[in-house]
Amino acid sequence: MSGDSLETAWAGVRAIAAAPDAAAIRPLFVQDPQRFDRFHARGAGLLLDISKTSISDSAREALLGLARAADVAGQRDAMASGALVNVTERRAALHMALRGTLPGAAQECAEVAETLEQMRIFTDAVHRGEIRGATNQRFDTVLNIGIGGSDLGPVMVGRALWRAGDPMRPIHLGNVDGHGWETVLPQLDARRTLVLVASKTFTTQETMANAHLVKRWMEASVGKLGAAAHFVALSTNLKATAEFGIAPDRVFPFNDWVGGRFSLWSAIGLSLALSLGWERFRALLDGAAAMDRHFLEAPLEQNLPVLLALTEAWHVNGLGFNRRAVLPYDERLRRLPAHLQQLEMESLGKRVHLDGSAVVGATGPVVFGEPGTSAQHSFMQLVHQGPKPVPVDFILVANPDHTHAENHRILLAHGLAQAEALLMGRDAAGVTADMRAAGADEATIARLLPHRIFPGDRPSVTILLPRLDPGSLGALIALYEHKVFVLGALWRINPFDQWGVELGKVLATPLVAELAAGAPSDAHDASTRGLLAEVLKLQAG
Ligand code: F6P
Repeated sequence: MSGDSLETAWAGVRAIAAAPDAAAIRPLFVQDPQRFDRFHARGAGLLLDISKTSISDSAREALLGLARAADVAGQRDAMASGALVNVTERRAALHMALRGTLPGAAQECAEVAETLEQMRIFTDAVHRGEIRGATNQRFDTVLNIGIGGSDLGPVMVGRALWRAGDPMRPIHLGNVDGHGWETVLPQLDARRTLVLVASKTFTTQETMANAHLVKRWMEASVGKLGAAAHFVALSTNLKATAEFGIAPDRVFPFNDWVGGRFSLWSAIGLSLALSLGWERFRALLDGAAAMDRHFLEAPLEQNLPVLLALTEAWHVNGLGFNRRAVLPYDERLRRLPAHLQQLEMESLGKRVHLDGSAVVGATGPVVFGEPGTSAQHSFMQLVHQGPKPVPVDFILVANPDHTHAENHRILLAHGLAQAEALLMGRDAAGVTADMRAAGADEATIARLLPHRIFPGDRPSVTILLPRLDPGSLGALIALYEHKVFVLGALWRINPFDQWGVELGKVLATPLVAELAAGAPSDAHDASTRGLLAEVLKLQAG
């Protein structure tokens, strides 16, 4: 890849996006009745429709040219062979090795297979009651303590797939807020609870504070000696897990080439294996592996992660749309937006290129979302009628796992209708006709007309799943992971580091001490000093 050819490719995309009608979508459907056929692709059992965007044939060509100029295929293959693509931390990014075979990373795949086998044996032994708690009772609950990538992925997948009757009940403790612990505490019986301390570094302050809190609770319930039988660590830091008191055979390791937000496939997924059962955890990995194969093998123009990334580049850099909403029309995916917030914003919220030079223009957009239809009754007003378009990802699931067919028809109809409403809008003539038909007088129509017009031409993509199961969910998550990677390549930024979260952690340390001592230090800015003094005053009553 030459920097010049990439810049030329970007200039080509921007030139097309600068045309006066570049954001118009409706005319593209008028010109081409086959637009859906030509602007959707399939992979790993998923369908991706990008037809409801303003990407024209020429824009698509320019965007694919961009992908070629950025050498997305070459960078992808480098990642798959274990190159140190995380250049600032000098690490590989081999999350694909966690779920399938990568010929270029045989050693890493062998290590993964070993840990997976350790996880499988442990999971089966817990389920068979061969591994029990200190009071000889079977474990029926798994409590995962972790934050960020050590929490969001397992929580999201657990909420999506766990059903009553599954082998163990998953409970998650993420936030250091003691109210979180107070909320989960009544759901726990210490004698039957297996605690997983999930932390790649085993130094994250919030996780360690919660782990010590839970350890004290467990010791009070089953005794100091007995508590050890209830703890497991998922970590890369074997020294720290030993210091915490977790026996080496209760530590499930992974490597530093697994990024936190890409880690649910690793030992960090143990709570999923325990709660869902080994077969379904394996099926999740297999679904992701199917998407990996698609990403590695499909031509760029049919490659789902590439198309999704190019669509985002078109919106962010071509049209200046720097927010995106994710609307899964499946209540079970209610934590998917939270997972994607970390995956995308921690990966792509960067202001410098790989070489340290400043980014001119935008990188990762703000991502937010809620399940449909609930989202329709909250922020969709802004998406339909706010001044600036917000591209939407609609995630639809064709077949539910319940028998309430009418509910599901309503759910799907609303998802399709939202996307159609964003695309088609309602112009003055349409609104006028609607209002006349409803019996409104001309004065009322004139007064309300501007408020009731929908501009339309608002972009969305739709991802369609046949049904939500471990395989399709694995593929869906991997689709977004690879999209993030492709965007990193297009923007020449490192999607695998997260220096931006460090400063706040450092500054919190002295503040904890000052709160404990009741004495604010002069070292802070005036606002922080003032707020700290107010907190201390309020605490003193
Ligand atoms: O806060 C940032 C972060 O480093 C995330 O990237 C990571 O997922 C999370 O903290 C938790 O880190 P750990 O697994 O090391 O506790």
